[in-house]
Amino acid sequence: MTEITKEQIDAQLAACARIAAKLGSGAKAMVDTYGCQQNEADSERIRGYLQAMGCSFTGEPDEADVIVVNTCAVRAHAEQRVLGNVGALVHSKRRHPGQVICICGCMMNEPNVVAKVKGSYRHVDMTFPPQSLWRFPELLEQVLSDGKRLFDANDEDSVAEGIPVVRQGDTKAWVSVMYGCNNFCSYCIVPHVRGRERSRSPEAVLREVGELAAAGYKDITLLGQNVNSYGKDLPGNMDFATLLRKVNGVPGDFLIRFMTSHPKDASPALFDAMAQCEKVAPHLHLPVQAGSDRILKAMNRGYTAAHYLNLVEQLRARIPYVVLTSDIIVGFPGETEEEFRETLRLIEQVRYEALFTFLYSPRPGTPAAELPDPVPAAEKSRWFDELVAAQNAISAEKHAAYVGRELRVLVDGADSDGKHDLTARTAGGRLVHLTGDASAIGTYQMARITGASTWALFGELK
Ligand code: 5AD
Ligand code: SF4
Repeated sequence: MTEITKEQIDAQLAACARIAAKLGSGAKAMVDTYGCQQNEADSERIRGYLQAMGCSFTGEPDEADVIVVNTCAVRAHAEQRVLGNVGALVHSKRRHPGQVICICGCMMNEPNVVAKVKGSYRHVDMTFPPQSLWRFPELLEQVLSDGKRLFDANDEDSVAEGIPVVRQGDTKAWVSVMYGCNNFCSYCIVPHVRGRERSRSPEAVLREVGELAAAGYKDITLLGQNVNSYGKDLPGNMDFATLLRKVNGVPGDFLIRFMTSHPKDASPALFDAMAQCEKVAPHLHLPVQAGSDRILKAMNRGYTAAHYLNLVEQLRARIPYVVLTSDIIVGFPGETEEEFRETLRLIEQVRYEALFTFLYSPRPGTPAAELPDPVPAAEKSRWFDELVAAQNAISAEKHAAYVGRELRVLVDGADSDGKHDLTARTAGGRLVHLTGDASAIGTYQMARITGASTWALFGELK
């Protein structure tokens, strides 16, 4: 792991200034982001650099001098969408030949994808993987000066501080606390494309959270592929529960969220910290992936269903109203109907507020992609629909239990459903459609919950 120095980042900022002079005034950039919140956080840094290059932002490819597409490799479906949209950029490039098209993110660490872009997407000028994000200005400058296509393949894991940031919105913010993943779940491409786990220093995290709180941000999410591994690579006894307590000590009226927690590393010490820190939201996203011990083992998850259920029990003993959400993969290679039914039983036992459900998608280069997969797609799809229907019924019941309660919510925007004025989030992260005055946007308010559906709550400001 390399620490990128201040001098190295200063050199990138100097490149930004030279690019700004070259692009001239009125230059515009478009950033298109796919995938997880880590990618959203990365794109905020890309926008920071682009702003330092004098660019303003547009959502129209035709208006852009520089286009950056930040890609996701986690499922084949996401990849196909990205490639379709990158393909369509050929039209804006034709109308605007000086336009520079860059692709970055996890797909740019898959050699077969980069080869495809090289050969079949000739309008793309440059690609770089997540490990090279901090060098984006230097790479762009090279393309602008020699006019040659550039395919960067840097797999050196690093941590860089001091990259400028342009955030999306002014109430919610993402703060990466670590990068990479060491778990190698057998279906997952992430450890192959984002490198090994490395943590930012607690000082850097606290500085960033302090700046956000001072700027009035109200909802701050700490990000990492597996936040419970935080600090393992740092000196001393740093761990995620300790970091949460320190972040909780930052002055200001804001809520702290975090994701993602791996059940093999989630511990009573974490739950104690959540229960004792008043700013930590009563919400845990704890992906279970499957309810069958045989499948969990084949996924290399490192826990059993019983261990998972015990964690949930311990958490609820400390925080009775905690909101639990999870990820589930349906149709892992060789999963039987009986094993799928174990997943259904688990979700009935846990009763999550909401689930993110995925059909298994083979990722080339992962061990699971080599396994025989005899179950027909139509069968998996039936299981998937059954799981979604079961969860929808649970979500609707859980949401109905909120009706009549009065809750503190963060009003985060204007509503577009035609019936309500505002959208808001409960401390547990549930969406609330509200009637009330627009002056409440960006503030905490008390709301009376008057109705509920599978997806959301409805109410009015008090
Ligand atoms: N197929 C389907 N879903 C996947 N996920 C990760 N890899 C795959 C895959 N190959 C899901 C997991 C993870 C979430 C972010 O994406 O559920 O928790
Ligand atoms: Fe993928 Fe597993 Fe790492 Fe999550 S913990 S990113 S599912 S390997």
